[in-house]
Amino acid sequence: MRLSVFGCGYLGAVHAASMAKLGHDVIGIDVLPEQVAMLEAGTPPFHEPGLPELLAEALGSGRLRFSTDASAASDATVHFLCVGTPQKRGEFAADLRYVHSAVEALLPLLKPGDVVVGKSTVPVGTAEDIAERIKEVQPDAELLWNPEFLREGFAVQDTLHPDRLVYGMADTESARAASQALDEVYAETLADGTPKVEADLATAQLVKVAANSFLATKISFINAMAELCEATGADVTVLADAIGHDARIGRRFLNAGVGFGGGCLPKDIRAFMARAGELGVDQALSFLREVDSINMRRRVRMVDLAREECGGSIVGRRVAVLGAAFKPDSDDIRDSPALSVAAQMQLQGAEVVVADPQAIDNARKKWPDLTYADTALDAATGADLVMVLTEWPEYVKLEPAALAAVVRGRRILDGRNCLVPEAWRSAGWSYRALGRP
Ligand code: UDX
Repeated sequence: MRLSVFGCGYLGAVHAASMAKLGHDVIGIDVLPEQVAMLEAGTPPFHEPGLPELLAEALGSGRLRFSTDASAASDATVHFLCVGTPQKRGEFAADLRYVHSAVEALLPLLKPGDVVVGKSTVPVGTAEDIAERIKEVQPDAELLWNPEFLREGFAVQDTLHPDRLVYGMADTESARAASQALDEVYAETLADGTPKVEADLATAQLVKVAANSFLATKISFINAMAELCEATGADVTVLADAIGHDARIGRRFLNAGVGFGGGCLPKDIRAFMARAGELGVDQALSFLREVDSINMRRRVRMVDLAREECGGSIVGRRVAVLGAAFKPDSDDIRDSPALSVAAQMQLQGAEVVVADPQAIDNARKKWPDLTYADTALDAATGADLVMVLTEWPEYVKLEPAALAAVVRGRRILDGRNCLVPEAWRSAGWSYRALGRP
């Protein structure tokens, strides 16, 4: 099939390459010429395992192209909307300007029978507005809503082998017919036994934000338990293992630490609260405010713990921060807890040196005043305190003796509960973590 993908950021670039892998002819459209040039050259503009190989294969097959010119999408019959919906500056609500401009660029190209498929995370009600706009211009085109659930670091796997496919559609004959086009797009994925959930447009839009709200709540729940553990001398990692054995609870997303960040969970729960307010049901989501507060409190607690470890003041203390990305296997620093703690420490007078295997370039653009090092050992050289804030495998595997040889003080803070405390303590380190004695 001939497909177009509007928006070639994280979601769109991976989706476009994955659809070409599934055998479709795909044109990716983006307004940023440098992004398009990089993708055309087979270089993803961000770090994502497996994507360089997938892009190379798809470009080599001749089935994947990129352009800044929307009219290049005129041959396609199924058009995916994959643009970003960031948080508005100074507000909780989502900024829909990229969604609207992609739709406006697409409208003049639509032919009878074309299907527009929304994948972006949007406030519920947005799809209905887009559907109306499409009908005004091309009454014989249809809108479906098919949210994406990909995780950074696993984006290729999540796109080619998703846990489920959600099809949101109006209750009309023509919408049902349009959903058959989507079945054809995902024929291979459906043949693998991927569950398909059909829903109305409102439900399909809500599924995505509900899922992300649940995940954020799960993380904040365990971080709230970590606060209790800190007050009682209990161990949140053992608590998580123990409650996680209950299949109704499950162990995943119960890792306590500096909390969640990234381009999705924080802004999605906020946009969800803003939308609930507009709908007059803000009380239904008031718990998400608490989820957000617990999450932000962990960053403050991390700085406080650093102060305690440094004997009451971090002023002039040299601190190595290991990790800048919001999670391992990513170079994404959007709302990164690691970088937010690093910046806070620097603002409060510490001399902070940050290391990260992938995210240094992005971190430097956002926080040019921090000092950056290429390796953990470089960052830790002469440090009074080492803080592990993103659980990259190379940091988890660090040898206490190797680090001890370069630091000024053997003090380590484990912000992700990813190290083995005994290994560090027995090597003469002071080891502290969140929610763990
Ligand atoms: C998330 C959702 O998982 C994905 O389904 C959705 O499509 C986009 O948002 P992503 O932002 O890539 O994906 O990251 P995720 O793996 O969910 O982690 C989010 C944050 O939570 C990270 O900062 C991570 O470090 C943190 N986290 C995760 C925890 O603090 N504890 C955990 O147990 C799990």
